[in-house]
Amino acid sequence: MQIIREIKALREAVAGLRAAGGKVALVPTMGALHAGHLALIAEARTRADHVVASIFVNPRQFGASEDLSTYPRREAADARMLEEGGCALLWAPPVDVMYPQGNATTVSVSGVSETLEGASRPGHFDGVATVVAKLFTQVAPDIALFGEKDWQQLAVIRRMAADLDLPVEISGVPTQRDADGLALSSRNAYLSADERRAARALPRALGDAARAIEGGAEVAATLAAATERLTDAGFGPIDYITLADAATLSAMDRLDRPARLLAAARMGTTRLIDNVAVMPQS
Ligand code: PAF
Repeated sequence: MQIIREIKALREAVAGLRAAGGKVALVPTMGALHAGHLALIAEARTRADHVVASIFVNPRQFGASEDLSTYPRREAADARMLEEGGCALLWAPPVDVMYPQGNATTVSVSGVSETLEGASRPGHFDGVATVVAKLFTQVAPDIALFGEKDWQQLAVIRRMAADLDLPVEISGVPTQRDADGLALSSRNAYLSADERRAARALPRALGDAARAIEGGAEVAATLAAATERLTDAGFGPIDYITLADAATLSAMDRLDRPARLLAAARMGTTRLIDNVAVMPQS
């Protein structure tokens, strides 16, 4: 696997992959890889002939109160995992290659970006949309894969790629979960053993609420019951638990189109997010 840090070398390497024939997939990451990322790589290999991964800890998506300097960086170990996973190429640009002196462009996707995660992390999705738009123009993949755990991020990226007419298929990969149902996240490592046990309430409450709403239960009452269940399990504060349109993320009070049930809540000092599909029954 080649590790590339300059745009000209990246374009030459991708041209080399294309010359060999077949499709190119991109899996964008910020490194500190876990089994969830490897599932993206594995899925990418089934969808394309060549897999490019990127590792770039994007300063633009960190808020002033979020510590960019302590974000885990372990490129050598990540590169080994990517190579074993079958990646052809690792795109790992330094910050001044991604954002050269004088850069002045921000991609902002209005409507999908401001609510939910965007409300507690102002500007976060502008940073994500900007870097992902740049990754798409740098690598020019046929397909790009993102985890459904960050559903709002996926919705922002889908909207951005459609609005900018970028010729790339955006593919969401189902959330990878541990045996107890908790969605895989690097943040799970911060949970104590007791918190970890209690945190199982999050996927369970979401799953039960989704089934209840699909079965015809009233949305507001179901969300209130799920909130109480999370509070009883030790979550708090609960930032949101919302039924939203799966594409636009606008809040819904009845299930009349494909939806997502999304939640963010704190267990101790660790903020967890999760979401599940909620489909109208025909
Ligand atoms: O999900 C992530 O790891 C990041 O938000 C992404 C998509 C790589 C953009 O920096």
